[in-house]
Formats: sequence, structure tokens, C-alpha cells
Amino acid sequence: MRTKAENFVTLDFPSRSSNEGFARTAAACFAAQLDPTLEELNDVKTAVSEAVTNAIVHAYPDTIGKISMKLRLHPDNSLEIVIRDWGVGIADVEQARTPMFTTGGEERAGMGFTIMESFMDTLRLRSVPGKGTTVTMRRKISRRPGAR
Ligand SMILES: Nc1ncnc2c1ncn2[C@@H]1O[C@H](COP(=O)(O)OP(=O)(O)O)[C@@H](O)[C@H]1O
Ligand SMILES: [Mg+2]
Repeated sequence: MRTKAENFVTLDFPSRSSNEGFARTAAACFAAQLDPTLEELNDVKTAVSEAVTNAIVHAYPDTIGKISMKLRLHPDNSLEIVIRDWGVGIADVEQARTPMFTTGGEERAGMGFTIMESFMDTLRLRSVPGKGTTVTMRRKISRRPGAR
């Protein structure tokens, strides 16, 4: 097996709402090896929660479909998270990223991407209508003096 990444895991799960908490906790467990602060850990968990919730509620509105989450560590102490679905896709990704834009009606705030962007260092959104969506986020974890 050849890879540039120092360590990685891939998790595939169905778009059941109970798996949102699983994905969030799994990402936190994986991130723990970077010795993050509680704040860094919470930022990562919040971003994962938003991305996975989007796949559950928007990508597969009337069905249960597959969601894949890849977690990768990079040598610069950054964590990369790729959350992918094979659902309905997004016609206009710039519009989707606009604060308060939602197709979810009254009960959605339209702040998911804004939250992911503010808690992570980078966010890339790729989507093909009818084929699915991939959200790639990266966050550098501080190296704390005295740790490792
Ligand atoms: N995985 C996805 N598949 C299809 N559409 C998505 C996906 N993620 C986001 N969207 C679209 O982008 C919009 C904005 O997402 P977001 O900022 O999280 O706000 P909210 O989820 O509150 O609507 C959603 O309303 C939806 O139309
Ligand atoms: Mg959302």
C-alpha cells in the first residue's frame, strides 16, 4: 500500500440520522492522535456534523443512500476530511455556500457551509447534479509545546 498521507481511515455508512453522531465521534477519535485542544476537536466535530447532516437530509431526501467519510493525517499535522455522497447533487455550488441560502425551508438556517468554512482552514465543494457531492475540508492542528 502506497500513500502520501501518514495515516487514514475510510468509513462507509447509510444516510440514517443515527449515523451523524457516529461520524462526528469517529472523526474526533481519529483526530485525537494529533493531540488537539478541546476547541480544535469541537471545531472538527461541528464541521463533520454539518457535512454529514447535509448528506443525510439534502443528498437523499426520500431514500437511504451511501455516505463515505475519509479521514487523513498529513505530515504538517493537518487533518483532511472528505465526505462524499451519491445523491441529488447541487446545481450551483457558489449559491449553496452563501450564508443563509437553503432549499430546506423554514427549519434550516442555511448556515452549514458557513460554519464548516469558519471552523476549518479550507473547504472545497464539488458536485454534479444527479451524481452526488464531495466536501473536502482541512484543518491544521497546533503542535503544543511539551506534547509528544
Ligand atoms: N450533500 C448535499 N447534497 C445536495 N444538496 C446539498 C448538500 N449539501 C448542501 N446542499 C444544498 O446546499 C444548501 C445549503 O447547505 P447548508 O449551508 O448546510 O444549509 P442548510 O443545510 O441549513 O440548508 C442546502 O439547502 C442544499 O440545497
Ligand atoms: Mg446544512
